[in-house]
Amino acid sequence: LQPGEITVGGVALHNHLLLAAGVLGTTGASLGRMLRLGAGGVVTKSIGPEPNPGHHGPCLVRTEGGLLNAMGLPNPSKEFVGEIEPLKDDPVVVSIYGKDPEDFKEVAGWFAETARGFELNVSCPHAAGYGAAIGTDPEMVLECTRAVASHGLPVWVKLTPNVTDITTIGLAAEKGGASAIVAVNTVRAMRISTELRRPVLGYRSGGLSGKAIFPVAVKCVWDLYEACSIPIIGCGGVSTANDVVEMMMAGAQAVEVGSAVVDDVRVFEQIARGLYSGDGVAAEEIVGVAHHA
Ligand code: DOR
Repeated sequence: LQPGEITVGGVALHNHLLLAAGVLGTTGASLGRMLRLGAGGVVTKSIGPEPNPGHHGPCLVRTEGGLLNAMGLPNPSKEFVGEIEPLKDDPVVVSIYGKDPEDFKEVAGWFAETARGFELNVSCPHAAGYGAAIGTDPEMVLECTRAVASHGLPVWVKLTPNVTDITTIGLAAEKGGASAIVAVNTVRAMRISTELRRPVLGYRSGGLSGKAIFPVAVKCVWDLYEACSIPIIGCGGVSTANDVVEMMMAGAQAVEVGSAVVDDVRVFEQIARGLYSGDGVAAEEIVGVAHHA
């Protein structure tokens, strides 16, 4: 692949690799560090209309091939505006959540001067009334997207894999004026401690990320590419240059990396070394090619 600046979903990026929402995106300092470590763009931790302490613990555990979390969308709400002010000239996408279009529009408004774009989190699998409650309802997805798009900045919509047909939701986002679709958020999951005879997570149920969900994400990207006309950003278990190419062949124009960053913050440099050292083909020659096989 060719290195250098690209534009995906209306946002100019330094390369095809973004920091996924949630991971190390809770302060301006950590977001800036990820950019210096080679991320082509960064997505913040999701910000909501009120400060939120999140769920009680344990809220993050390792499991085979991934991470299981029920953080519960912890965030400082409006106070976060100050965190990204020093990053005004950097490719920062602000992830936001809310319970209705008014919430989404209000939160987006706080960042209208500093963000390059928004990513709507309508897909958290363990946030009663917020996350997936909205992201499984096409009408709500359309209205929330439309409300945020009224600020005039690019809107990306991050979808849940926990649906029967993800394309219905993708098409609703597109109709609402989304500039890109991000696929996917975590897969609903749980573990039980046989010793304690109770669920491992304090919230009981949570979301699975990491290598274990990569094939799920590839299939979601594949289906969305067939159905939708706006760019797709792949997310879910990406950790190698080959994963990025595979996501692109399914239809992604860029990818987000989350769990792999938890394991090693140098992952962006590692992926870039493999991704940009080959024959230098244009991304357009890779995106979606597997559909013509
Ligand atoms: O798995 C997730 N955990 N997905 C989200 O969208 C939010 C996050 C959390 O804060 O619980």
